[in-house]
Amino acid sequence: MGLVWITVAVLLLFLKFVNCSGTAKEWTYAVQMTLPRWMGVAGLPLHYSAVQLHLHWGNGVGVATGSEHTINGLSSSAELHIVHYNAEFYANMTEAKTQENGLAVLGVLIEAGEETNQAYGRILNYLDHIRYAGQQVAIPAFDVRLLLPNDLGQYFRYNGSLTTPPCHQSVLWTIFNERVKISHLQLMKLETLLFSSKAEAAEPTALQDNFRVTQPLNNRTVLSSFIHVSAKMYTTGEIIAIVIGSLCGCVGLAVIIRFIVKTIRSTSSWDVLPSIRPAPQHSTKDMAKEPKQDMALKTTSDPTNPEEATPQPET
Ligand SMILES: *[C@@H]1O[C@H](CO)[C@@H](O)[C@H](O)[C@H]1NC(C)=O
Ligand SMILES: *[C@@H]1O[C@H](CO)[C@@H](O)[C@H](O)[C@H]1NC(C)=O
Repeated sequence: MGLVWITVAVLLLFLKFVNCSGTAKEWTYAVQMTLPRWMGVAGLPLHYSAVQLHLHWGNGVGVATGSEHTINGLSSSAELHIVHYNAEFYANMTEAKTQENGLAVLGVLIEAGEETNQAYGRILNYLDHIRYAGQQVAIPAFDVRLLLPNDLGQYFRYNGSLTTPPCHQSVLWTIFNERVKISHLQLMKLETLLFSSKAEAAEPTALQDNFRVTQPLNNRTVLSSFIHVSAKMYTTGEIIAIVIGSLCGCVGLAVIIRFIVKTIRSTSSWDVLPSIRPAPQHSTKDMAKEPKQDMALKTTSDPTNPEEATPQPET
């Protein structure tokens, strides 16, 4: 991915559809920032020029929803889209968006964390200037690269559609595996500050849940740029259970091995001692050997019971 800079930025609440299917059409808005044509993205098969970036989010209630993509079935609280059109084949965005290979969108899943994200602050700090539909504000330029995760090497790529009507199958999607964190306060601003109604409306309507729900894959191939530890992700609880289980198993095994070793040692001294004891009565040669065997016995038997190995004087 190339380094991306913008010189002039305009943030606006932009009108767009949320729903693609049939008659259920619902207008809503998204925070959108226009990007300069010369801003591009490296590493794609064709030359794509930047058009705009925008955000999708949820309503902050219950589990984190708001992203349009999920990774391993997990959604996140918001999603950033940086939209590009194919400048090699088409004159502009309008022409490109209905065509195959017309658009390329970079997607970043956003979740809440402890720290304030300064880069996202460059956008989110200006939301109170565009609280109502159709408003816009000029914001200082900043490096759009800072909105992306650190690791641009791990991503998923697939041929898909626009998530807004008419949902043309014209988008080459790139979704980064690493999620970006913004603070809980920043996320709350995004979820609660904006209205999808005009400033003059008597009853303002909160702008929330402007995301399209995840769609079936429909036999699409999703490529990943890395070997990706598949479907089953362990939760923290499961990992703790596995670690404790393994530890218990190891301790148990150690106890059993120690017991077996002890048993072998003690049975060998029981077996050997009686076989030695009658020996002196048969020959004087064996008599002479006896001290050596005693020494061997002492070393193998339990040192805490030295008397076990000492020869019985009365035999
Ligand atoms: C986009 O390009 C087409 C074809 O060149 C042209 O007719 C149209 O006016 C352009 N639209 C915009 C918004 O520039
Ligand atoms: C997307 O479709 C194009 C052909 O239209 C194909 O060349 C490309 O490999 C596809 N990319 C992915 C990630 O499936």
